[in-house]
Amino acid sequence: MDFETRAIHAGQEPDPSTGAIVTPIFQTSTYVQEAVGVHKGYEYSRTGNPTRTALQRCVAALEGAEHGLAFSSGLAASDAILRLLSPGDHIVIPHDAYGGTYRLVARVFEPAGFPFAPVNLSDLGALEAAWRDETKIVWIETPTNPLLSIVDIEPVTRFAHERGALVVVDNTFATPYLQQPLSLGADLVVHSTTKYLGGHSDVVGGFVATKDGELAQRLAFLQNAVGAVPAPLDAWLVLRGAKTLAVRMDRHCENARAVVAALQDHPAVARVLYPGLPEHPGHEIAKRQMRDFGGMVSFICRGGEDAALGLVAKTRLFALAESLGAVESLIEHPAKMTHASVAGSPLAVDPALVRLSVGIESARDLTEDLRQALSSVR
Ligand SMILES: Cc1ncc(COP(=O)(O)O)c(C=O)c1O
Repeated sequence: MDFETRAIHAGQEPDPSTGAIVTPIFQTSTYVQEAVGVHKGYEYSRTGNPTRTALQRCVAALEGAEHGLAFSSGLAASDAILRLLSPGDHIVIPHDAYGGTYRLVARVFEPAGFPFAPVNLSDLGALEAAWRDETKIVWIETPTNPLLSIVDIEPVTRFAHERGALVVVDNTFATPYLQQPLSLGADLVVHSTTKYLGGHSDVVGGFVATKDGELAQRLAFLQNAVGAVPAPLDAWLVLRGAKTLAVRMDRHCENARAVVAALQDHPAVARVLYPGLPEHPGHEIAKRQMRDFGGMVSFICRGGEDAALGLVAKTRLFALAESLGAVESLIEHPAKMTHASVAGSPLAVDPALVRLSVGIESARDLTEDLRQALSSVR
């Protein structure tokens, strides 16, 4: 079945007891057993819950995976993956990784005995230079948050696999509609479902998808043993969001193109970072690896940090807020907001940078809002 059909039907058969077409929110912690150990497949909701099962089947189907595991946040999903390692194992992360991924690796895992290296994954030479015998995970993010750089998943995966390491791709920005890393050889895909998969700024969640049965089993063990599972309502909200992912992404991409056109020649804008631009260093890879270029746009203000901070205070439709990937357009200042956790580290971002999550409102209203805000910071 095609993507759009899987999004609406995978894991979502009508409820057998009532015929309800929508998977119910199974708001229950436990399940009555007919006799000790005789039950319908569910014992306790940390271990398994039917609403979560539906979500896991659906998003796994969207990623072309056999197995999916839902978590209470994107970082809880990332944490579960990193717990597959043993102390002494070395982790490679992108040199412009999402700040929360960096914080998890640098401040939780490294002190516990897991060394790491931030590497520019567009450069296989840099990856080779950073490689150690102990390197066990290469963590790819593409496009990256907030710089929107692109990593060529296939060659990095080949390189890592030849040396016995696993490859994880954070697919939050692209979503499975635009990019399917497992088909390019990656072992694990991780998501913050808080973003495009949920799509409506009303839930925090995470997800891991894989084709590998053994990895899935180890992750299911961790999901239950550590317990960072989504509540039934949260699983239901992500499942509902996923149904409209394709149509929303098409509109996000279309609106992002309109926003880029409005920013590109504006005198207050020094540089637009968007993989859809032919001059973007990852443009050709993105064209090959993605269906479209996504709804995230970043840019550098010519007037530096003051202009960036002035601009984010002036938009009316673009709301000043962290997060991304929902129907509403958002604007933010990464250096002081989402990426404050990397301040002073090698991953620190330019204080003149502004990040937009372009929503699905009218493109004309969005571009007019940006123009009026930009005119005040020139
Ligand atoms: C690319 C990326 N990965 C992971 C995360 C973490 O997800 P969550 O906030 O759901 O824990 C985020 C959150 O912004 C993100 O942007």
